[in-house]
Amino acid sequence: MTMTDSHSQRRRRAHHGDRSGSSDEEGAVAVTDVARAWAGPEGEWWARQWRRHERLVAGYQGPLLAAGRAGPAAPQVLDVGCGAGGLALDLARSGAEAVVGIDVARPLLTVARRRAGGRVPSVSFVHGDAQRYRFPVARFDCVVSRFGLMFFDDPVAAFANLASAQVAGGRLAALVWRPLDDNEWLMRLTAACAPGGEPIGPPAGRPGAFGMADPAQAATWLAAGGYTSVGFEPCDRPLYLGRTVAEALEFTLGFPPVRSLLSMGSARTVARRRRRLEDVLASALGPGGVRLGSGAWLVTARAAG
Ligand SMILES: C[S@@+](CC[C@H](N)C(=O)[O-])C[C@H]1O[C@@H](n2cnc3c(N)ncnc32)[C@H](O)[C@@H]1O
Repeated sequence: MTMTDSHSQRRRRAHHGDRSGSSDEEGAVAVTDVARAWAGPEGEWWARQWRRHERLVAGYQGPLLAAGRAGPAAPQVLDVGCGAGGLALDLARSGAEAVVGIDVARPLLTVARRRAGGRVPSVSFVHGDAQRYRFPVARFDCVVSRFGLMFFDDPVAAFANLASAQVAGGRLAALVWRPLDDNEWLMRLTAACAPGGEPIGPPAGRPGAFGMADPAQAATWLAAGGYTSVGFEPCDRPLYLGRTVAEALEFTLGFPPVRSLLSMGSARTVARRRRRLEDVLASALGPGGVRLGSGAWLVTARAAG
């Protein structure tokens, strides 16, 4: 199938029976534990903190906007794990013909829709598990994701599902975290709060923040799912945690790993660890606020079609 064929087929399908509008779809919603966590309290917390989260990862927006703009002049783009919609909205405002954001967390989608406020007609948000959602076939020129691809319980099935939603040769561009050692922010925050002072992160290669941290493993999943020309490029950015130490402390105390570590131990122990956390944040305070280093892979690939 040529790009031109797939484009015209895609337009026809988008016209007839496109199921990716702004409504929810029963049966497409996540059943995994990780996705349930996002759909529940975790999603609610991040929804309350959406402005801070945008500032936290703002440095990572550029490479994905560039990827979304490459290719056709007015592409159709799917943003996987769109969260509160910052990337999807920026892509829609920068000339995409249509941007669909999908997420399992209703609280985040509520924020995303409120931010769109009917003023960005080319963007829509759907509630569903991207691993299972029945997207229109061969619709999207580009799939993007800012830290939303690492949570699938069956990554090969998930990538096969995403690839089938793309035109032949369509691009995938996504940011995923590199391992804990490359992420000063999580190393230092968890080391401050852990009982033995050792950094703690979720295991690489399992659904979670480091689910795609191992490029060799992630490349096999993408290839088995129907992607070619798979590439991993390191991308490092400081994470902005707040203007002052007090602001950064209030924010980081809600981070799921920090919250969970500080929920254990006596009041004295917790107070000591909290002071250690404050010291880490104070040591990271500079003219531009509190910042800690982070490292991601920019994953790129093409849907084989
Ligand atoms: C780290 S957040 C990133 C949010 C957003 N991309 C951003 O950068 O602001 C990960 C997002 O992926 C979503 N997510 C996790 N598993 C998902 C799945 N299977 N399908 C759709 N969304 C998922 C979560 O609900 C969450 O909003």
